[in-house]
Amino acid sequence: MIEVENLTVRFGGVTSLAAMSVTFQPGTCGLIGPNGAGKTTFFNVLSGFVRPAAGTVRAFGSDLLSIVHFRRARWGVRRTFQTEQAIEELSVYDNVAMVHEHAKVTGSSRRADVLGAISFTGLQADPAARAGTLAAGERRLLEVARAVVGRPKLVLLDEPAAGLPDAETGHLAEVIRKIPEHIGALTILVDHDMSLVSACCETTAVLDFGKLIAAGPTAEVLRDEQVIRAYLGTAEQP
Ligand SMILES: Nc1ncnc2c1ncn2[C@@H]1O[C@H](COP(=O)(O)OP(=O)(O)OP(=O)(O)O)[C@@H](O)[C@H]1O
Ligand SMILES: [Mg+2]
Repeated sequence: MIEVENLTVRFGGVTSLAAMSVTFQPGTCGLIGPNGAGKTTFFNVLSGFVRPAAGTVRAFGSDLLSIVHFRRARWGVRRTFQTEQAIEELSVYDNVAMVHEHAKVTGSSRRADVLGAISFTGLQADPAARAGTLAAGERRLLEVARAVVGRPKLVLLDEPAAGLPDAETGHLAEVIRKIPEHIGALTILVDHDMSLVSACCETTAVLDFGKLIAAGPTAEVLRDEQVIRAYLGTAEQP
């Protein structure tokens, strides 16, 4: 369980997160909101890129913010970025193995873990192929493989389906839904595709201008009037 209390982030005069308090339960949780709402900033706080002005984050009983940022991967935080991070010149295998190197994994073989993470995503590419030769959808799966390798506790996915055609988003949804059960990690999904969020997330939280405006079962949250006004638009503005 991730318990966020009073989390506040400021960049100069901009308040990107304004006293955000929310709890994420084990499973796949959605985090949605308009552009600039603070979703990526929240991920940046959890992964240690940004230091908040105030607030606490307890993750499975640990004070996450007290863990120095370069030890968070070893502790078990993984994330994907809105822009892909795979290194084109390296093989699929090495792109995943380099993340595994930062993980605290004992009693298992790196090779089995890396190949297991690749096959978990359903990525059909040859592990020896250069990442640069992969198609867009395959690269997205490679990003997910990098996020799930090495038994993470917390997986943060930042718009993993952006730009994908519907058929590939459907497969990605199946993979994301399986992460908590098969990998054992609490997963937070940020995406603007509400069909993906609905398909993957039992619960969803909503940010607007850095403030939490709703949280709860996904179907209820997507019917919430304030959420519709702030983000989803009215029936007249699909
Ligand atoms: N490093 C930074 N320096 C200054 N301002 C920042 C920084 N990072 C984020 N912001 C500002 O904080 C606000 C929240 O940005 P953030 O990237 O978290 O939004 P988001 O919800 O991820 O949006 P999107 O859906 O477009 O990805 C924005 O106003 C943004 O300009
Ligand atoms: Mg963002």
